[in-house]
Amino acid sequence: MNGFTYYTPTKVVFGRGTESQAGALIREHGGSRALLHYGGGSAERSGLLNRVRRSLEEAGVTWVELGGVVPNPRLSLVYQGIDLCRKEGVDFILAVGGGSVIDSAKAIGYGMANEGDVWDFYEFIRKPKACLPVGSVVTIAAAGSEMSNSSVITKEEGGIKRGCNNDAGRPVFAIMNPELTMTLPPYQTACGCADILMHTMERYFNHGANMELTGGLAESLMRTVMRNSHILMEDPGNYDARAEVMWAGSLSHNGLTGCGTDGGDWATHRLEHELGGMFDVAHGAGLTALWGTWARYVYKERPERFVRFARNVLQVKPGADDEETILNGISAMEDYYRSIGMPVNLRELGVHPTDQQFRELARKCSVAANDSLGVVKKLHQADMEAIYRAAL
Ligand code: NZQ
Ligand code: ZN
Repeated sequence: MNGFTYYTPTKVVFGRGTESQAGALIREHGGSRALLHYGGGSAERSGLLNRVRRSLEEAGVTWVELGGVVPNPRLSLVYQGIDLCRKEGVDFILAVGGGSVIDSAKAIGYGMANEGDVWDFYEFIRKPKACLPVGSVVTIAAAGSEMSNSSVITKEEGGIKRGCNNDAGRPVFAIMNPELTMTLPPYQTACGCADILMHTMERYFNHGANMELTGGLAESLMRTVMRNSHILMEDPGNYDARAEVMWAGSLSHNGLTGCGTDGGDWATHRLEHELGGMFDVAHGAGLTALWGTWARYVYKERPERFVRFARNVLQVKPGADDEETILNGISAMEDYYRSIGMPVNLRELGVHPTDQQFRELARKCSVAANDSLGVVKKLHQADMEAIYRAAL
């Protein structure tokens, strides 16, 4: 196993009605004037925003509001948020929504706490030194941004989607009420489950040492999400299934399932970020559209890990040899994705890149990755282009 630092400073408040604690939690973390940041309307329609406003009022927290965050959150709104927060003397950012809102909140927080253009942090020109405190009320189990050190923002000009990873951006608290996720359309529930699985799979498919405990936690998490996603496709109002998936979403991306490993592969995520930037697809669906192709491209470099995945996660019976077991495992994963309505190739995703767009996707991905990405198999620009093309 490798040595590791496990840093999870986020206070988690989990359960029914917990959004009523938002105001008190802001106070507890030193805030008195908040930016209430949210998305395109679901939190208003469900009445959640009014409950949160009441909680702020009761705690004596004043606030200004900025809604309109879209999936694949945009840099222009981040700039708007920074201007608003400066003008209004905001000292805390409360994100009410999913990964997109939380990521936008983190970006505004970086912009508030550092000099210069916040986009520099996403282009890896500079590293942020601090972040205004961010808290969240989570409304979709998916990205895991509520406990992660990551913020992913899209710059409209050129459709460039980039992530900034920094511990300063880890939210100080996360309010998680599984009931809040019951208004999600089935497609978004499924996209969320796919992303949660991928955050653990990216760490699981590594090329270094492993810990038995970490591997076991990862496998249990993946089986739990798969089982409960099926329950939710039939019964979206099932509280226990919502709760299992929601907690898995946070644990999948707070570092727990990577302890003792080399950190994992992350190629599928990096390839997807370019798809999201160019075609504005839902992140989870972009991942499932690429994963099978990636897996078939790289499995020969790390067969033992793929065999273990097939057996322990998908309960695939051993084939005539390891290769058959691995390929059956990859197909079984694609069958699972289809069973929850997720695409397993670009056509099913509704994306048909032109020849020139295939080249451009690979070029941008290679620039973002500083030439190569992945650890199971190091992928260079030609490999990236081959995967995009084979995923059609
Ligand atoms: O804007 P509203 O109206 O709220 O609609 C949202 C949005 O359309 C809707 N929604 C959210 N909660 C709802 C709801 N609809 C009904 N009821 C509810 N309770 O769902 C849609 C998707 O929301 P979004 O926040 O975009 O989803 P998600 O959490 O999947 O976030 C995706 C973004 O996170 C990034 C992705 O790349 C993508 O930009 N990621 C962030 C990561 C991180 N910060 O650690 C890691 C991930 O790998 C990922 O890259
Ligand atoms: Zn993800």
